[in-house]
Amino acid sequence: MDDLSLKDLARQHGTPLYVYSRRAMLAALAPYQAALQGRPHLVCFAVKSNSNLAVLQMFAQAGCGFDIVSAGELERVLAAGGDAGKVVFSGVGKARREMKQALEAGVRCFNVESTAELEVLSEVATQTGRTARVSLRVNPDVDAGTHPYISTGLKGNKFGVAHEVALATYRRAAELPGIEVVGIDCHIGSQITEIAPYLDALDRVLDLVESIESAGIPIHHLDLGGGLGITYTDETPPAADVLIGQLLAKIDARGHGHREIVFEPGRSLVGNAGVLLTEVMFLKPGEQKNFCVVDAAMNDLMRPALYEAYMGIVNTHQRAGAAETWDVVGPVCESGDWLGRDRALTVQSGDVLAVLSAGAYGMTMSSNYNTRGRAAEIMVDGSQSWVIRERETPADLFRHEHLLPR
Ligand code: LLP
Repeated sequence: MDDLSLKDLARQHGTPLYVYSRRAMLAALAPYQAALQGRPHLVCFAVKSNSNLAVLQMFAQAGCGFDIVSAGELERVLAAGGDAGKVVFSGVGKARREMKQALEAGVRCFNVESTAELEVLSEVATQTGRTARVSLRVNPDVDAGTHPYISTGLKGNKFGVAHEVALATYRRAAELPGIEVVGIDCHIGSQITEIAPYLDALDRVLDLVESIESAGIPIHHLDLGGGLGITYTDETPPAADVLIGQLLAKIDARGHGHREIVFEPGRSLVGNAGVLLTEVMFLKPGEQKNFCVVDAAMNDLMRPALYEAYMGIVNTHQRAGAAETWDVVGPVCESGDWLGRDRALTVQSGDVLAVLSAGAYGMTMSSNYNTRGRAAEIMVDGSQSWVIRERETPADLFRHEHLLPR
């Protein structure tokens, strides 16, 4: 990765090990910024995709805002030097204490997902003596064509305010104390590889903006969410600047070119900038299946177990000889604990494998199942590397637990 050997990094820091390239992350951001240059905009990195402080610090320095979904993520952004004034707060279930904390920090906007949330936010804002700037997250009812667990813009989803009631909800927002309407928001799903669903959603959103403004409620910004997919295997998502170019063309054609544009990308900024390194512990050839038992597991990288997601796996050791077919599995006591199935690999025990495209929703979804400490994380840039998170020890894991009195 960059000018460094992943094999050496694994030897030096141990495995499982997440390694990210700063250059690759900034290179992924560049087309977003280039396409939006010259008009008011904000790229809000979706913290949930990779929340390491060093990653947030890098995006803050690059001028990004942040899309958060909890007070915990807000604290991370602030600890990393991010600006609360560039934070949008999404999520279907914000707690009162989280609303209060976000109001006190001065976040730029709450992306509100229901009338009930709106009423509570109004109460909390009034009690706190602050004004909550809000967008309503509207559900445009379009099919993003992605995995059902990560598709969010359809009617049956828990997300957002239904298109049909959006105008009424905006009217309610406009009359509530402590609430100031500033924008409109939608996010239709994740790992989207087509432009069409975005354009459909945009049309629906612009229809709403027109009726909301006709009702006398000004809309300042359009937040079009995140969701742009990446290549894990053979997907061919549009480049960010191509997607944005088409969205802006429609925005301009429909006479909305003066509005500020907000995006909330996560995966497309970090996914292909990271790998998970794992050492092969045992080879276990079998009658029906060959198992390659590695030291990373579903607790380190949950995407395969949870979504049957395909993540590329390559051997950092170039071995001669014919490839055999292996299921790459972890040590956790569940059959769902696999990282890759039926992979052609030439492999020996002791080899370091790299699970590709692991920069997004890898570390952030990891857990301590089986009392496994979470992996360390390394950032590289050119020939430099930094430890940006230390490996957890067992003592770290039970630090907050207590024995019963004797
Ligand atoms: N904005 C909102 C409101 C979101 O819910 C999400 C992701 C994003 C932005 C960023 O979406 P992205 O650009 O990363 O697609 N764990 C799943 C993905 C869950 C996405 C949740 N929401 C996975 O590993 O595929």
